[in-house]
Amino acid sequence: MSHIAVLTSGGDAPGMNAAIRAVVRAGIAQGWTVSGVRHGFAGLLGGELIPLGPRDVGGIIQQGGTILGSARCEAFKTPVGREQALGVLKARGVQGLVVIGGNGSQMGANVLAKAGFAVVGVASTIDNDLPGSDITIGVDTALNIALEAIDRLKVTASSHERAFLVEVMGRDCGYLALMAGIAGGAEAIVIPEMETSPEALAQELYTSRERGKKHAIVVVAEGARHNARALAQYFRENEKRLGFDLRVTQLGHVQRGGSPGAFDRLLATRLGAEAVRRLAAGETGVLVGQLKGAVAATPLDDVGGKSKPLDPALFALARTMSS
Ligand code: F6P
Repeated sequence: MSHIAVLTSGGDAPGMNAAIRAVVRAGIAQGWTVSGVRHGFAGLLGGELIPLGPRDVGGIIQQGGTILGSARCEAFKTPVGREQALGVLKARGVQGLVVIGGNGSQMGANVLAKAGFAVVGVASTIDNDLPGSDITIGVDTALNIALEAIDRLKVTASSHERAFLVEVMGRDCGYLALMAGIAGGAEAIVIPEMETSPEALAQELYTSRERGKKHAIVVVAEGARHNARALAQYFRENEKRLGFDLRVTQLGHVQRGGSPGAFDRLLATRLGAEAVRRLAAGETGVLVGQLKGAVAATPLDDVGGKSKPLDPALFALARTMSS
């Protein structure tokens, strides 16, 4: 192998730049040429490859987002799209590809691997929904951003004796909401993995007020059946009976754009370098992630489209702590 390419795909995550930097510098240390693909798989189809040297990735380790740009690409999922991508890689003399991204992106990576191209994935998404990595690049920073918001909202909740619904991202996975709820000292947490009815939630808040709490913070995962919007509507419709002054804050994309913290920079650097090491060792069709504290590789067949269950002990912990 003498030439590899790297791309970032799906939602951007803090630490993606650190991973790009690691791939480029580790690749060059192997004596290879490294290209960056702009705009994810869409850019690959369009032949948007740029050369990347060590200086091109200087000063980016602390930057959020991705210098390569990212996209979600439907065309790549078709057989025609796949052939086009393979054609571009061949025409540019690229022999290996590193795909930095989440679940959908790793399914794309697997499509190329199955077609016989050397591909290694790097686990990166704020959702932390990827099997093959206990924690993915971007989660820690996104969690800290959510926490900062929750801490601030708690101040206002206390001052006004109000309840706040704080909706965090995570797609169908409740990891961010659960961890933000535990670390933020929330009175209640609503996640897809542990559905609760609006009435049960109202009862929980009511009971906590009876126990002397002057405010309530409810962290809600966007993927929960009763998300913040649905819950707010229920509370509005039943305001008189429930007696809560309730406000909603949707954190949304604010969680994605932060400067990566130390944890994400280190994780991204280790995983990016490991992806190169695996390619150099002739491996393909695997995702590199962190399992039980160590860098590890998992077949992409066991990753894409699969879900990662949350630890039920954390649900119990959240419940005990909110009393
Ligand atoms: O996968 C990351 C994520 O931020 C999810 O948490 C969220 O549901 C989704 O991306 C939002 O996607 P988009 O940025 O395309 O609106």
